[in-house]
Amino acid sequence: MKTATTEKGIRFIDLFAGLGGFHVGVSQLGHRCVFASELDEGLRDIYAKNFCLAPEGDIRRIDERLVPDHELICAGFPCQPFSRAGKKKGAKCPSSGRLVDEIFRIAEAKQPKYIMLENVPDVISIEEGKFWEYLVGGLARMGYEVDYKVYTPREFGIPKKRKRIFIVACKSGLQHFKWPAPEMGERSLRSIALKSNDQHNAISKEKEFALSCWQDFISQTSEFTSLPILASEFGATYPYNKKIKTVKEMSAYKGAFGVSLQDCKTWASVQEKLPKHSRNENGKASPRVAEAIQYSREIYNRHSVFLELWKNDLKGFPSSWTKFEWQGDREQANIWKHIIQFRASGIRIIKPDCAPSLIAMSTTQTPILGEERRYMSIKEAAALQSLDMLDFFPDNNSKAFKALGNAVNALIVKEIAKELIH
Ligand SMILES: C[S@@+](CC[C@H](N)C(=O)[O-])C[C@H]1O[C@@H](n2cnc3c(N)ncnc32)[C@H](O)[C@@H]1O
Repeated sequence: MKTATTEKGIRFIDLFAGLGGFHVGVSQLGHRCVFASELDEGLRDIYAKNFCLAPEGDIRRIDERLVPDHELICAGFPCQPFSRAGKKKGAKCPSSGRLVDEIFRIAEAKQPKYIMLENVPDVISIEEGKFWEYLVGGLARMGYEVDYKVYTPREFGIPKKRKRIFIVACKSGLQHFKWPAPEMGERSLRSIALKSNDQHNAISKEKEFALSCWQDFISQTSEFTSLPILASEFGATYPYNKKIKTVKEMSAYKGAFGVSLQDCKTWASVQEKLPKHSRNENGKASPRVAEAIQYSREIYNRHSVFLELWKNDLKGFPSSWTKFEWQGDREQANIWKHIIQFRASGIRIIKPDCAPSLIAMSTTQTPILGEERRYMSIKEAAALQSLDMLDFFPDNNSKAFKALGNAVNALIVKEIAKELIH
């Protein structure tokens, strides 16, 4: 089959288009997008503004005969039904799981020479490999030779570890094709921060203060592991690994930050004085929480003189700011040299060379670049997907981070397409 080129390269279509990671990567090679489909109206508007091409909506409602002729189908079909988060329902999933059939339907009608797909690596193993068989078998039956490879953006010099599987298929075989073997070297997250000139939001004075308290804690105690540290346990003595019977029994103990429970007359007043993580019905902590409580109390015992004073500063903080988790560099005991996330489960310190997952990141979880004492911007997050050249993004952080988390990395797409299209 001969590749029918347009004025500029071949024609491609962008299914499940999202923010257009495939569009960016493939068009950078001089190829032209002739059709896109995206369910989400907001993303469709943004795509139209970025690429001057208005995507169609739900692909299930598109008559394949109306899809313009093309030589390449690109599709990052929704990964949710096949990822861990989607409970691995696979092709049995009645809605999104069958979306791969839409790719088959269009490929059958239009017979493009190439297909490029992207998904989560789990796609291979869900349903004991049945979905994978369905996918690869379907492509093979239509006459495509298929190959696949898992990449992380890190291999392409982007400070992000997220693994994605790329699947390529070609009607005339893949003898010509080799997977790119990038030698782009490691880049730190800082390199992305420095590149960006867009609006930056500084962290609030309250958050800065909370982080300096925790920095003090680390400098003075040198206690940091990936086990959560629960500051509200500093000075607490209440029993956490057995069912509590009566208010009277509790009055002999101390609650959050060492407050006495002596004057409590009701169970409700006891609960109020316990740390939030221990306010459950029967007073018995889960094994995970119990481990963190024990660890935190041991730290308190080792450094009680310092912590007795230190904990006073934390008393007014939201409960989640009193929990602390170190996933950072042990050699570098400095919070400000790290990425920081304020999560519902606590403050998390992350190694500075790799961005946390962008997916499902609410506004409050937006990573903080410690050295700059500000939030990572949308453009910087876009740089992690090699999409920072786009002019338009969803206008609020959580929508933008979600769309970016779902997007395919445009640089990886480009490098693969370079080898595939000949
Ligand atoms: C994993 S994301 C793909 C992101 C895209 N590759 C990018 O670079 O941004 C899947 C996208 O498919 C869209 N989608 C889901 N069901 C769809 C359908 N029936 N028709 C068209 N798009 C759909 C979702 O809204 C989502 O944006």
